[in-house]
Amino acid sequence: MKAVQLTGFGVENLQVSNIDKPSPKRGEVLVRIKAVSLNYLDTILVNGSFYKDLSFPYTPASDGAGIVEAIGEDITRWKVGDRVAIQYVQNWTKGNIDRISNQVRVAWQTPGVLADYVCIPEHGLVRAPQNLGFEEIATLPIAALTAWHALVNQANLRIGQTVLIQGTGGVSLFALQIAKAAGAMVIATTSTSEKAERLKSLGADEVINYTEYPAWHENVLSLTNGEGVDIALDIAGSDTIAKSLLSVKENGFVGTAGFISGADLPLNIHDHKINMSFIRIQGLAVGSAESFTALNRAIEINNIHPVIDKVFPMDEVQQAYIRLEQGKHVGKIVISLE
Ligand SMILES: NC(=O)c1ccc[n+]([C@@H]2O[C@H](COP(=O)([O-])OP(=O)(O)OC[C@H]3O[C@@H](n4cnc5c(N)ncnc54)[C@H](OP(=O)(O)O)[C@@H]3O)[C@@H](O)[C@H]2O)c1
Repeated sequence: MKAVQLTGFGVENLQVSNIDKPSPKRGEVLVRIKAVSLNYLDTILVNGSFYKDLSFPYTPASDGAGIVEAIGEDITRWKVGDRVAIQYVQNWTKGNIDRISNQVRVAWQTPGVLADYVCIPEHGLVRAPQNLGFEEIATLPIAALTAWHALVNQANLRIGQTVLIQGTGGVSLFALQIAKAAGAMVIATTSTSEKAERLKSLGADEVINYTEYPAWHENVLSLTNGEGVDIALDIAGSDTIAKSLLSVKENGFVGTAGFISGADLPLNIHDHKINMSFIRIQGLAVGSAESFTALNRAIEINNIHPVIDKVFPMDEVQQAYIRLEQGKHVGKIVISLE
């Protein structure tokens, strides 16, 4: 079978190899992977800037979707032919995360899924939404579940509230779709006028170009009668967190999902209203399989279709990673293994 392998840090070291097809052990399911999507995390794992202890050759990518091809002994939940998605935090099956469930991330503590076949423990799979094809299903495990867990489980999003999202990447566009399905108003920030138009066409109520308006939190306040939004989902870290805090109203929620511009946070308790405005800052790290199942129900009921930027064939894997690194994409980058 074919698999992508990284032989040393750097996109130029990604290559398609022929390796042995795995067989499912007791409690495992063999999945024929049909599509994989890339996340910002995949780029920093491959370029070596995030985690130095990968052992090579390394099979990358966490987000995959496919069909159950075979089952090992003692499998009760899956049968051959089931359409499945991979659960990123494999041991987080339900409820709040704890020390035990906060372990075993795909393509970090296990091999990745950019391969024709992978073996996954039965609890590490989730039934795919019926209204989506495999390229769409592959976009869900990290980005969509992060947005869902942030807005629905942590921020307790309600109809009529206002949500601030940042940029046109995977997490933010899922947050846009989920917030609109929940009946919220969405204010989005982005870097270019073309992307601003795209955000509007995807349902954003208001869009602020942060290249034109670097103090964009002031625009957010003007758009909300000086009050601020109920929920801000911060994906850039250093450049944005202070402005996210200044964009929320009293009792507002700031979810910190990402660190695209840096991981150091320039915060001051007084300047950024943290105590006086009773702001809740919530760390985020994807979600449980139970939440993934609830997300998939919402996707079916609301007929949500993920925004796909581009689909690459497996042998153009390097180009797929480069496109994500360049940041020109809108939505998810997918690699097809059909
Ligand atoms: N904690 C979690 O559970 C979790 C899960 C998934 C992802 N993440 C993290 O969340 C972040 C976003 O992930 P993603 O996969 O959605 O990324 P992505 O698809 O690569 O999207 C990134 C987008 O962010 C915007 N952006 C870039 N630099 C920015 C800046 N300085 N200020 C404001 N916006 C900026 C750009 O959109 P525009 O050009 O439109 O502005 C860019 O396209 C990453 O840091 C990732 O590691 C965390």
